Amino acid sequence: MRTKSMTVKNGELYIGDFSLSELSARYRTPLYVYDEEGIIEKINIFKEYFRSDKFATEIVYASKAFLAPYLCKILAGRDISIDAVSVGDLHLIEKSGFPNNRILLHGNNKSNGELEKAVEMGVEYVVVDSYTELARLKDLSEKKEKHINTLFRINPGIYADTHAYIETSLLSSKFGESIHDEEIIDKVVDIYRRAKYLRLDGFHCHIGSQINNPKSFIATAQTMLNFTKRFAQKYGMEVDVLNLGGGFAIKYLENDAEVDLRWVLTEIIKTVESRVEKYGLKLKKLMIEPGRSLVGDSGFTLYRVGLLKKTFGGKKYIFIDGGMSDNIRPALYQAKFTVEVANRVAEPDDDSDPYPSFNFYDVVGKCCESADIIAEAVNIDEVRIGDIIVVYATGAYCYSMSMNYNGLQRGAVIFVKGDKITEAIRRQSLDDLVATCDFGVTE
Ligand code: LLP
Repeated sequence: MRTKSMTVKNGELYIGDFSLSELSARYRTPLYVYDEEGIIEKINIFKEYFRSDKFATEIVYASKAFLAPYLCKILAGRDISIDAVSVGDLHLIEKSGFPNNRILLHGNNKSNGELEKAVEMGVEYVVVDSYTELARLKDLSEKKEKHINTLFRINPGIYADTHAYIETSLLSSKFGESIHDEEIIDKVVDIYRRAKYLRLDGFHCHIGSQINNPKSFIATAQTMLNFTKRFAQKYGMEVDVLNLGGGFAIKYLENDAEVDLRWVLTEIIKTVESRVEKYGLKLKKLMIEPGRSLVGDSGFTLYRVGLLKKTFGGKKYIFIDGGMSDNIRPALYQAKFTVEVANRVAEPDDDSDPYPSFNFYDVVGKCCESADIIAEAVNIDEVRIGDIIVVYATGAYCYSMSMNYNGLQRGAVIFVKGDKITEAIRRQSLDDLVATCDFGVTE
């Protein structure tokens, strides 16, 4: 589960030219580390396998997985677009110098302020989530007399075999309007027909996240193209764009099923090409929105061991200097992570014991919650106070979902490439924790 540029030297883990212990000492822990070469490799896979001679393709990075200006720069230079979900995201992306005409605005309850900001910035598309939002956007476009390109989000009702909290395509899902809801779709079309400044460029869908089964993506593409065909027949409106969302799974544990990204992307392209031809559609562009699969397995988190404990009941704990505040995924989705001691790596040797004894620990954090578990029952040969623990595949939805619970500071985020380190986000200071407080005056 190590990243592309990781090596072992003298029993220590390295990324590029730096030992993980050195990085931990320099930037303090918890520390989020990204393997820049790993991210670039993923970008290249998407660019190589998600393309067609029959229509244009656009890869949109789902920035909710992790967002920092430095990452925006890496993406901008490689022709990857980016999505935003709030005015906060738009603000950060704009400040990074990312081209506005490659930004999509998502969100299932966009405020008028958010819509206005997107319109002022001239983003590429607003992805409209509902009929009511569309009505609001129509009014806004008329007030501002500004043309707005939109994709309309459809819930295709495809079952994605993943954790219930990250499944977005059930009939009861809060996202988009259902593919089956003819009445609402009639109303949507009516608004588009009457709107002077709104353009329906195409449809968007996203069925969920961490999806292992490639059939879900193929079924989604087929369903959305069937819908596009029926839509064109019923309303006489052809659309140019189809955006199939993200959701490609990554490996968290050694035994997790491997998702062959190259194969899945190729199959999606083939499916769309053949249906477009069969139905005589005039599709001009196919889009996808990978988040986790672009950055997840190129990121890891470093912690320092502060304490070891064996309970009266026999459970052994490794206490690290972070926890659910910097990685909420185990508590929220029962997510599993692979863990290693970074400064004492056992290198496999031929004479090693074929029947090793197991030494199980739970790796837990500093927060006052029993759910503050980063990894359960991990087999670690030897661990000491002061050791550095590395938790793999934390590049997606860890920093972006982190918080200051129990007064814990968010750690720094660094990108490493060979002998170069970029401190993309510095560690929060204690003053950052009180920066938004008004201390008031008491009588
Ligand atoms: N597009 C849309 C509209 C989305 O809502 C999402 C993720 C993506 C694309 C990217 O999905 P990905 O490729 O990253 O699977 N916090 C959860 C994941 C929430 C996903 C939210 N939407 C987790 O930690 O597993």
